[in-house]
Amino acid sequence: MGAFATGVAVVTAAAQDGAHGLTINSFASVSLDPPLVLWSLARRSHSLHAFETAPTFAVHVLGRHQAELARRFARPSPHRFAGLTLGEGIDGAPLLPDSVACFECRRVAAHDGGDHVIFIGRIERYRADHRPPLVFSRGQFGGFSE
Ligand SMILES: Cc1cc2nc3c(=O)[nH]c(=O)nc-3n(C[C@H](O)[C@H](O)[C@H](O)COP(=O)(O)O)c2cc1C
Repeated sequence: MGAFATGVAVVTAAAQDGAHGLTINSFASVSLDPPLVLWSLARRSHSLHAFETAPTFAVHVLGRHQAELARRFARPSPHRFAGLTLGEGIDGAPLLPDSVACFECRRVAAHDGGDHVIFIGRIERYRADHRPPLVFSRGQFGGFSE
């Protein structure tokens, strides 16, 4: 899979015990009408229960300038959100600052995906700008060049 270059995102949700979030690259578009996206979460994730129960999640597409944020949300830590100025999304999903795109989604399905759970969300709100995205390939973060 290292040969398949992807973008990088941080997905967040609000649970009863607070904000949850992790770095992902399993994000993909599913359908335009209705507007559906998917991503998959390891069953061993500390946030499995949070994402299985929160009604919404927010997918933040990271910019080239956000590699450190990607690393932070991929490391085990109870303090991933420390020092970040958070916005509040639909049904309380925490919104991170400065991403190049953000999709606020309502969870509409959770499918078995082996040792992962595949979440499908319907986009209820989004924003995007044209700054360069962060790219992940062969275990490294970088940028896109033609
Ligand atoms: C570029 C990149 C992409 C990742 N993609 C995913 C993913 O799609 N799904 C997943 O469950 N973990 C993914 N991870 C791993 C999680 O970010 C990492 O295991 C994190 O510590 C999980 O935290 P949690 O147990 O608090 O949920 C990815 C990590 C990196 C660096």
